[in-house]
Amino acid sequence: MISKLDLTDIQGNLIRAYGRASFQYARYVFFRVDGARGAEAREFIKAITKYITTSVTWGMGTDEVEKPLATTNIAFTYDGLEALGLPRASLFGFPPEFAMGMKNRKDILGDDGPSAPERWDKVWQGDPVHIFISINGQSRDALEQRYAEIMRCVADSQDAVCIVAGHRGDDNDSLDYQDASVIFENGKACSKEHFGYTDAIGDPVFEGMPDAEARKDGRGKQVANGWEVLAAGEFILGHLDEAREYPAAPEPFLLSRNGSFMVYRKLHQNVGAFNKYLEQEGATYPGGKDMLAAKFVGRWRDNGAPLVDAPDHAAKQVWDAKYAAAATDEAKDRMLSNFTFDDDQDGGKCPFSAHLRRVNPRASLQTESGAFDTPGALANRRRVLRRGLPYGTVEHPHSDSGEHGIIIMMVSASISRQFEFVQQQWINYGNDFRVGNDKDIILGNHGSRHPSKAVIQVAAASDSAPYFLRNIPRFVETRGGDYFFMPSMTALRLIALGLIDPT
Ligand code: HEM
Repeated sequence: MISKLDLTDIQGNLIRAYGRASFQYARYVFFRVDGARGAEAREFIKAITKYITTSVTWGMGTDEVEKPLATTNIAFTYDGLEALGLPRASLFGFPPEFAMGMKNRKDILGDDGPSAPERWDKVWQGDPVHIFISINGQSRDALEQRYAEIMRCVADSQDAVCIVAGHRGDDNDSLDYQDASVIFENGKACSKEHFGYTDAIGDPVFEGMPDAEARKDGRGKQVANGWEVLAAGEFILGHLDEAREYPAAPEPFLLSRNGSFMVYRKLHQNVGAFNKYLEQEGATYPGGKDMLAAKFVGRWRDNGAPLVDAPDHAAKQVWDAKYAAAATDEAKDRMLSNFTFDDDQDGGKCPFSAHLRRVNPRASLQTESGAFDTPGALANRRRVLRRGLPYGTVEHPHSDSGEHGIIIMMVSASISRQFEFVQQQWINYGNDFRVGNDKDIILGNHGSRHPSKAVIQVAAASDSAPYFLRNIPRFVETRGGDYFFMPSMTALRLIALGLIDPT
């Protein structure tokens, strides 16, 4: 498959969500470089470069490679790039939020109370981590084998590069790495997360992605008469973005081109609090518990049916029958992803505080016709690619004890314009949706200062009253993370050779 992008130069996790490509197991490992031994640490980078997975299409055709059993990808914090000897002139070209790191952005991100950095896993408590390596395996064996190969390179570095331990496990252990995997229901892998929702459906589709044209409806950008693919520069540096500009990036061009930024966040899920609140409110909500759960996210939990297309129980039955009868996987996928909020401007179907409306409002924020060239203009520059997998198991669904949640990695060309904006303005604040300071129901940092509320709207013409959710508990807590730069293969080789020259 010919792509306008150089897929051999772009790391594989940028183009693909591995979990959906049958890589069910993941291990996330963090390292620190001995500051005085940058040259030896660069030898380590050189040694592991051969393991890094690119975006080249898997298959047996021309320009394709055989699908591997395990994938490996790498990224660096600002401090990591400094420790590896990047020249100052290049370092100064990186955006300030990346240089500051996630901990120092806690006020913008709403990481307060139980999400405050003092409560994060130990791995984030000391000096910043430098290097992030992620491994995905089609089997546990494949993952372990790749991990052993990487650890041999670590051993060869003779402490120039060391693992940073301190990931919290169920018994509050200080684990060497963070494991994650898809959830298994009755022994079968599924795409559920710990609150029981079907996940990993929506993901932006941009220029140069293999199959972009076929997958753009519902995942690209909403335009006057349908959908178009997003500009590659929204996600990959060195390419034109939605403003037809090159995203801000450090010099030289070869350092930034085909790279991107990645936000790693470990998000704990209070499954007990979620189930209790859903039971309690579901008992009084006129549509009942299952429909209320759908209102929290914008999709029904069992199969991901979008609320705008299946707004009540009767419509859901019709949707389910059509879904079951859909002839192909592609037809099923279209039913899940291809929808808009055009016929739901009052939030009567999908509430304004439902998670997926908050994180991707599509064209629904444009209220004056003709105000913008494209109806989705206000959302197109706020999109993020989602990567990662759930971690931990839920032993007691009615208790908040135990460690389980999602390792989420948001990839975008600008951390501040894309991820941070969504987190600050749309998840933890509701003014763009004209709902004051109501937060995203499942993700908001509820209860930080005032008890949180949210409104489940009804259609403007309806006789029924809206439903008020009050005293919403905090369902999701941040356990740590940081901001990373994912270099291209070219940049990785230049970093390894100490050849970055910004002049
Ligand atoms: C524990 C934390 C989280 C849970 C349980 C969760 C759950 C979900 C679920 C169930 C969906 C619907 C399935 C789908 O459309 O793929 C979804 C969609 C989505 N989520 Fe989250 N999510 C979490 C954190 C986040 C964060 C931190 C962000 C980014 C700031 C985010 C961004 C998105 C996006 C962009 C979509 C797709 C929306 C679309 O294009 O329609 N999520 N999430």
